[in-house]
Amino acid sequence: MLPRELPGLALRRPPLVLPPPLLLLLLLLLLPTQCPAGGAARFEPTWESLDRRQLPAWFDQAKFGIFIHWGVFSVPSFGSEWFWWYWQKEKIQKFVDFMENNYPPGFKYEDFGPLFTAKFFNASQWADIFQASGAKYVVLTSKHHEGFTLWGSEYSWNWNAVDLGPVRDIVKELEVAVRTSTDLRFGLYYSLFEWFHPLFLDDQSSSFQKRQFPVSKMLPELYELVTKYRPEVLWSDGDGGAPDCYWNSTGFLAWLYNESPVRDTVVTNDRWGAGSICKHGGYYTCSDRYNPGHLLAHKWENCMTIDKFSWGYRRNAGISDYLTIEELVKQLVQTVSCGGNLLMNIGPTQDGTIPPIFEERLRQMGTWLKVNGEAVYETIPWRSQNDTVTPDVWYTSKPEENLVYAMFLKWPTTGQLILGQPKATLGSTEVKLLGHGQPLHWTTLKVQNGITVELPHLTSHQMPCKWGWALALTNVM
Ligand SMILES: *[C@@H]1O[C@H](CO)[C@@H](O)[C@H](O)[C@H]1NC(C)=O
Ligand SMILES: *[C@@H]1O[C@H](CO)[C@@H](O)[C@H](O)[C@H]1NC(C)=O
Ligand SMILES: *[C@@H]1O[C@H](CO)[C@@H](O)[C@H](O)[C@H]1NC(C)=O
Repeated sequence: MLPRELPGLALRRPPLVLPPPLLLLLLLLLLPTQCPAGGAARFEPTWESLDRRQLPAWFDQAKFGIFIHWGVFSVPSFGSEWFWWYWQKEKIQKFVDFMENNYPPGFKYEDFGPLFTAKFFNASQWADIFQASGAKYVVLTSKHHEGFTLWGSEYSWNWNAVDLGPVRDIVKELEVAVRTSTDLRFGLYYSLFEWFHPLFLDDQSSSFQKRQFPVSKMLPELYELVTKYRPEVLWSDGDGGAPDCYWNSTGFLAWLYNESPVRDTVVTNDRWGAGSICKHGGYYTCSDRYNPGHLLAHKWENCMTIDKFSWGYRRNAGISDYLTIEELVKQLVQTVSCGGNLLMNIGPTQDGTIPPIFEERLRQMGTWLKVNGEAVYETIPWRSQNDTVTPDVWYTSKPEENLVYAMFLKWPTTGQLILGQPKATLGSTEVKLLGHGQPLHWTTLKVQNGITVELPHLTSHQMPCKWGWALALTNVM
């Protein structure tokens, strides 16, 4: 198991050395008192209180996570993970035809359940790939809108991976593999609503005055999920148009932050009821593929998927439907410069394999981060997010080390990179290319602030990487 820093402890903090009397006083203060909660902040079940919680520091430092959409929808693996809805509710022709052409009459979505075999699912293989990707957390769909749970939920009788299909506790297997053989944090996605659950539909027809579904299904299931698998990311989704009071989201989150086994390290998103997105909860996701291109005051995440048109695996995807590694690196660089994290999605097949196209993208990202991770992990946004002269130059910084990073996505044909933003000082400013290491020659611009950097002359074999590069600028303003 790789080392992991203690939650809540900032890195690079100098060791605190106290003289003995002070040390004694501190020890006395640390002894248990009559106060039940040990002095930690208690959260009330209101947004006002919950929104004040500081996000555990690990999340902002992590920058890059992997999203996995896997479930019964991976069996038809056609069109999208919204297959059931498009076929039976919207009756979209493409989906109706697909069923008519490939399955016997009367075949129901539920009949896909036993076909979800996960025959070749090997959680350690997945964990190895995730580790190689450079990601620092992973988020698995424990239950999507179809309602099928990837663990043996007590509240999802006969529609879960232990009773049906794999007959294995998928969530447990992945949790164990990720926690024993990687340095990634383990997270879970959970859909609040279920498209066709009779109790949800009945509640809905009462305009959510009835609360049978959250009381007997969703809330008990969420408590079970958190208690059993201790996810450090709880990625909520699918409010079904119901307000947060229907879901009792604030009641649940107060428990999550005050009492749950992950209260000190868990992070959540903002999808906790109609109107809460981009407004309440933990970090903001705002919309799928959210990438504003400017700095936000609140921590946010860009959740996006390598397959441009689907989150679940699609057998009908062509090569041009997948984002290239250049496009993915650009997403990462833009997102991190603007204060976000990137959550990049893959869709495994029904038999539990990660298709090579996804594996390749993950491994490519890992090789890129091996060289350039210094400009990504544990950085904070700089005063400028992108350059004002050269397009597609994105900045990050490490103020404690007097470092600014300029990540650029096109290698200039002139061999000179013009940066309009950094103010350099002769004799003090130093510029290096990550993965190259030699100080580079630079000159100040004549007409405005900024510098011209002489990039090294490298053949394609000498390039430290091929899909974007980073300059480390020491002592610039
Ligand atoms: C699972 O994958 C690992 C390699 O990551 C391998 O050592 C192990 O034998 C595999 N287990 C099975 C059951 O195939
Ligand atoms: C909401 O959750 C809290 C905390 O678990 C609980 O005390 C409260 O009774 C719940 N309220 C409703 C209306 O379900
Ligand atoms: C910087 O980013 C903003 C927002 O994406 C964009 O409008 C602007 O054109 C960018 N500037 C350059 C020089 O690329």
